[in-house]
Formats: sequence, C-alpha cells, structure tokens
Amino acid sequence: MRTFRISIIGFGAVGQGVARSILSKQEYLNKQGIDLQVVGISDSKGCEINETGIDIEAALLRKKQKGSVAVGSGNGLDIIRDVEHDIVVEVTPTNIKNGEPGLGNMRAAFGSGKHVVTSNKGPLALHFSDLKELAEDNGLFLRYEATVGGAVPIFNLVHEALAGNTVIGIEGILNGTCNYILTRMSDERMPYDLVLKEAQELGFAETDPTYDVEGIDSAIKLVIIANSVFSQAATYKDVDVTGINKITPEALELANKNDYVVKLVCEAREGKLTVAPRLVPKRHPLAVGGTLNVASILTDLAGRITISGKGAGSIETASSILSDILYIVRNSKS
Ligand code: HSE
Repeated sequence: MRTFRISIIGFGAVGQGVARSILSKQEYLNKQGIDLQVVGISDSKGCEINETGIDIEAALLRKKQKGSVAVGSGNGLDIIRDVEHDIVVEVTPTNIKNGEPGLGNMRAAFGSGKHVVTSNKGPLALHFSDLKELAEDNGLFLRYEATVGGAVPIFNLVHEALAGNTVIGIEGILNGTCNYILTRMSDERMPYDLVLKEAQELGFAETDPTYDVEGIDSAIKLVIIANSVFSQAATYKDVDVTGINKITPEALELANKNDYVVKLVCEAREGKLTVAPRLVPKRHPLAVGGTLNVASILTDLAGRITISGKGAGSIETASSILSDILYIVRNSKS
C-alpha cells in the first residue's frame, strides 16, 4: 500500500466535497494499493492536525454543527509549513485582487516540498507561469483541473487525451451562474433579479455575484486556459469582457422566436481572448442549459471535440481534485 498524506486548506463547499469523496472512495482506492490520509484541515477559524490521519467523518460533523473544523488555533500556512505531508489541496476562496491567501499557501507548499492541487482561480489567473516554474524547479506538481469547468476535465483532455494535437481555438460556456440566469430568463421568462437570487441560493454564484454576471469569473477562467493550453502569458487585462447584466428579456424573447439562445461565450483564438453574450442556434453543441458548462476544442488532428458537464458544486468539483491527486500519486516518485 502506498500512503499519501494530504492537507485540505480551506473547508468550504469544495474542501468538504474533497473530504467526503476521499472518505467514500477509501475502499475503492485501497483496492488499487492507494491510501489517502488527511493529516491537516484548516478553515478561516482554525485547524485540525493529526499526523496519523484525521477522522474525516468527525471533522465534517464538527464543521456542520459548529461552523468550523477547528480544534486548534493554527492556520493553513502552519499546516503547510509544519506538518509533514505530500499534497496540499488548496481550496481557499478565490481572490482576484492579490490571490491571497491561496498564493502564499501555494508558494509555501512548493517551498517545503509539497505538491499542490487546487480549485483556486485567483493565484493561477494572476501568477500562472511563476507558480508553474516554482513547482517545476522543485520537482513538484501543480494541478488545477478544478479551476475551470468544475467537473469538466478540460485540461486533462487537452494535455493528456489530445496530446500531439495543436489546439487552434477553444470556445465555451464557463460560468454556471450566468448560464442558469439566461436559461431561466429565456425558458420561463423569470425576472433577472429573482433568478440571480436563486443561483445564489443554489450555491453556484461567487460570494460577490457581480464576478459572475459581469463576466469576470469567465474571463479569469479564460486566462487560465490561455496560459495552460496556449502558453500565452495572458492576464485579466488581455480579455475583452462583456457581461450579461444588460441583457433585456425582450432580447432573449427575440432570439427565442428565431430559434436562438443567448449564451455568455468565452473564446480563445489566435491570441485573442473574448467573453461576450452571443446568439447560439438552439441545436448547436454550445447551447447547453441550466448550470451546465461546455468547452469546444478545435484541434488540427482530432478536429472539434466538445465536452459538457457540471461546472460547479461541491462533489463535482471534488471529482476534478481527486483526479489530480491520483495523477500525482501515479506520477510522483515518492
Ligand atoms: N461562480 C462560478 C460559476 C462557480 O457560476 O460557474 C464555479 O467556478
């Protein structure tokens, strides 16, 4: 049995989803000779550390009952620096202004010989190449499938399954909140404010939902795609962004009458990065509804490959994180 020790830094919806999936897959992984041991969990109020393995079920229950996992006063950085382990799962909230605390956590992980798996968009959108370089210089992995498209495996698809192809362009719908709002407004003629509130209640929207509706979240994801897929040193400023907050019910109705839907489409092509509402024919592969995300990848050898799935959600995002953890388990020397 190969044991990998893991910390979960951030214990919100994604962190708890990771804990739950590690717990539910224990037997499945053991059968493959893999033992994932969670040795540290932190949230904004404190942390739990147990070098022989945390009781995940008890930690989840404590979080539910008391609002925090904390049994001690340390923070994520203390776990990363002081507790011996292999993989840091960095799932603190996205901060697009300066990337913190995720950025500092990732740098500390690489500085102390630990791999990083993350769903945190901020640090990657701001410092993609620095972080990648830091990981490589230290012989470590930085894996970030969960940052874009939730459960949809965009980076694995491009870098693994489509290896050898040149990617000519990518277009997609990468924000579940906007897609939900546009779908409900168009299909059920619901008012914008009410559907936005619903999206917040479903737990998909960002803490500040202007990030969603103004296209900022989509643009951040497109920046990560540009860096990862096109090796383009892009930042948020390089994206031409228009959100969905000015779309009128009349515009949606007119589109509907002509067999179109309005979608917030992200596009990366020939170095140009755009996020804007577009008219999409109802039968087009990009015309996915509700909170679904979709990515359509145009390549030289394989042609066009389109994948769609859940772009947010606790367990769905944990699916991408678990897959990144297992990539490291299979490819690292330790
Ligand atoms: N607010 C984001 C969305 C969450 O609606 O897609 C997933 O990144």
